Amino acid sequence: MQVQWFPGHMTKASREIKENIKKVDIVIEILDARVPYSSRNPLLKKITAHKKRIILLNKDDLADPAATKLWLNYFESEEGTLPLAVSAQNRKSLSRISPAAKELCAGSRWLDRRPVRAMILGIPNVGKSTLINALAGKKKAGVANMPGFTKEMQRFDAGPGLQIFDTPGMLWPKFEDMHSGFNLAALGSIKDTILPIERIALFTVPYLISQYSKDVKARYKWDDIPEDPVIFIDELGKKRGCIVSGGSVDREKACYLLLKELREGKIGRISLERPGEERKIKGDGV
Ligand code: G4P
Repeated sequence: MQVQWFPGHMTKASREIKENIKKVDIVIEILDARVPYSSRNPLLKKITAHKKRIILLNKDDLADPAATKLWLNYFESEEGTLPLAVSAQNRKSLSRISPAAKELCAGSRWLDRRPVRAMILGIPNVGKSTLINALAGKKKAGVANMPGFTKEMQRFDAGPGLQIFDTPGMLWPKFEDMHSGFNLAALGSIKDTILPIERIALFTVPYLISQYSKDVKARYKWDDIPEDPVIFIDELGKKRGCIVSGGSVDREKACYLLLKELREGKIGRISLERPGEERKIKGDGV
């Protein structure tokens, strides 16, 4: 199964980024701290590859701190990259962005004359608007006085010495790596209608069992977690009253419930991938 992802406006977005990338000093790439690999658009990475970058692992408040630490180490080893774990909903965590931007540009002659210009990139739902609102508040600057930038590139003053240029959120042409698609679907970053909800849940359950059995046991008051994902869902459905008339489990409802609680952080601070994990995909992903 392949999911096609590249409507016309995304093609336009990628053209715009290519046109404007020369005019900024650095890139700020926002990833979801719970799925940094899956939320990284390889196309965005490719068209901005020559730029130094800050990688923001956003939604850190929902991610597993131990996994985030591994990801920070992982991205630190990428040349010209400065990773930070942040929560766009917590302004305090954002105060390190502007100093990090200056650090990346240290030694540039223009640095004491003008702010660092950063292009901000991220797939939809990663928290770009929340982040921009927190950084720039209502002071969204106009673009008219910035010759050379296309109209669509909105500019924001984002703290001392940093200007941000916004881009439309972009998914990638198609999920050749279905693993990424399922991870994003599990966290609600792509619409539930695109992939069947039961398949998303059945894909996610084995990882929850292997990494977060304690949290799952505590949340659902389970002494022994069923190892078979289908039985897991059925047992969960029974525990939570997801029953259809006739008494059998409403599996779809149980899957929704599990994913909703996962997305809201109710099961715990959970990350769905770690660096270096073997990305084994059976058939088309589940
Ligand atoms: P986008 O511009 O990249 O598309 O994403 P946006 O800012 O709209 O954020 C997508 C969802 O993620 C929003 O929730 C937003 O509140 C939430 N979000 C963003 N950053 C963080 C974060 O650091 N931590 C947590 N926990 N959530 C974050 P929503 O449910 O779609 O909307 P709403 O409930 O905020 O209205």
